[in-house]
Amino acid sequence: MKKSIIRGSGFFVPPHIVTNEDLTQFMDTSDEWIRQRTGIHQRHWVTEEDMYGASDLGTHAARMALDKAGWGPEDLDFIIFATLSPDIMFPGGGCLLARNLELNATPALDIRQQCTGFLYGFATADSYIKSGLASKILLVGAEVHSTGLDKSTRGRDVTVIFGDGAAALCIEAVDTDENVGLIASALHADGHFAEALKTELPASNLIKRLPDGISTDDPRYFPFMDGPGIFKKAVRMLPKVTKEALEKAGLALSDVDLIIPHQANKRINQAYGQFLKLPEDKIFHNIEKYGNTTAASIPLALHEAIETGRIGKSGDVVLFTGLGAGLTWGASIYIFP
Ligand code: ACO
Repeated sequence: MKKSIIRGSGFFVPPHIVTNEDLTQFMDTSDEWIRQRTGIHQRHWVTEEDMYGASDLGTHAARMALDKAGWGPEDLDFIIFATLSPDIMFPGGGCLLARNLELNATPALDIRQQCTGFLYGFATADSYIKSGLASKILLVGAEVHSTGLDKSTRGRDVTVIFGDGAAALCIEAVDTDENVGLIASALHADGHFAEALKTELPASNLIKRLPDGISTDDPRYFPFMDGPGIFKKAVRMLPKVTKEALEKAGLALSDVDLIIPHQANKRINQAYGQFLKLPEDKIFHNIEKYGNTTAASIPLALHEAIETGRIGKSGDVVLFTGLGAGLTWGASIYIFP
């Protein structure tokens, strides 16, 4: 049976670091508040000199992943690009990324699943591999949040948590009967909570997508988040979907070597760990350095966990989980070959 095996990973963040202290220059916040409520110390944001869109960050990450896999862009037979911050309204960032890689016929699919973009993307890659539709897939998660944030005190609850960044995986179809690769995915969505986390403009459900007379300071241009509501949902749904994925995989929590949760808020991930009675070192955190990079967050953490030797030996079991706008949430389990 065909299994989805990770052959290489890569990441990229724009060089400019924005510390919590830097944010206090344009909004009423403090390093202490941000560290205590989120665990974040700093994030990377693009600058006007960079001129980076999400597909550009993704291209850097993709090149690193391709190098690690020993593949050239021409080896790819499918590209999956996950983002909530596409360079432009359309075409999708996957096409732009493929163009950056100088490809001119490789199929490219965009995924708009926000913080669960990686989970949906990996499950989609696995389906393409299992059905024989593709055998060498590039999966990229990339975000440029900073150009769309309300950097005044009004937007502080959202703005302090988001960072720009990208991460990529090269995933190969391997014929084996061993229990390796992506062995289970549990995915969910509930649009009844779409209003809890959203950016409204520009909107195709308005006769003019950018209505006459509104200023670029209109709150609808910026992300709105019911932070406490999302927090409560995450703490409730993440343990539940973790158990669902374990059940699908036929594994116990004690079989998992490392959990890589979406890096939205360190306190969410600590509460999740306490609920499941997990030792602290079983949950991977890197939110302090990057903030919430949404579709990039889980693969970026995976890349770091592999590079630092925290995970990646044959037989190691890693569980990914996350919840975000949609609402969407899920978990998946990967066993290293
Ligand atoms: N600095 C200082 N004070 C702040 C800031 C800030 N950056 N932001 C909010 N506050 C204030 C509020 O105004 C409020 O003040 P008040 O008590 O005088 O009214 C107080 O701090 C508490 O605000 P809360 O919103 O209750 O703070 P909370 O502890 O919930 O933390 C946070 C806010 C960090 C946003 C948290 O709710 C959270 O992380 N939520 C979940 C985020 C998440 O998981 N999102 C999904 C993924 S993202 C995606 O899908 C795109």
